[in-house]
Amino acid sequence: MLSNEMIEKLNEQITHEFYSSYLYRQMAAWFAEQNLTVLQEYFTTHAAEEEMHATKLIDYVLKAGGHVKLGAIAAPSDTFSSPLDVMTKTLEHERGVTRKIHELMAQAEKDRDYSTRSYLQWYIDEQVEEEATFGELLALTRMAGDHLLLLEERIEKRAAKRGVATE
Ligand SMILES: [Fe+2]
Ligand SMILES: [Fe+2]
Repeated sequence: MLSNEMIEKLNEQITHEFYSSYLYRQMAAWFAEQNLTVLQEYFTTHAAEEEMHATKLIDYVLKAGGHVKLGAIAAPSDTFSSPLDVMTKTLEHERGVTRKIHELMAQAEKDRDYSTRSYLQWYIDEQVEEEATFGELLALTRMAGDHLLLLEERIEKRAAKRGVATE
């Protein structure tokens, strides 16, 4: 049984995951405008992943008998000064998401809501991956400096090694 606070927080998180998707789509479009198509594809794929995070939460709220209420999605900034700026903002964003997921977990613990706690564990683990991935991407971008095509080559190779187009 979900508490009203838990339902409210889960709904906020659903909207926030859609916002992540929206933000990464905006970033993907920006990369396209800079002719950085590998990064465009990378961020587009990641946007789809964020949508999946939102969808999974919707399914959970429904299954747990809660009411789903989607909120307004804020417009992300469309101005970036460089790929390094995008990567820095991405890592900051993911760290913010981690804090939100931890707040959800704290609510579940306060409510002794063991099912939500168990469900949220996936998101806790996922955020460790997300922060590691974007931290690595930021470091690579820093190293590449002005050699953006080298950066794209590196990202492509890295993705191919993991057997995915991008991740
Ligand atoms: Fe997410
Ligand atoms: Fe994410």
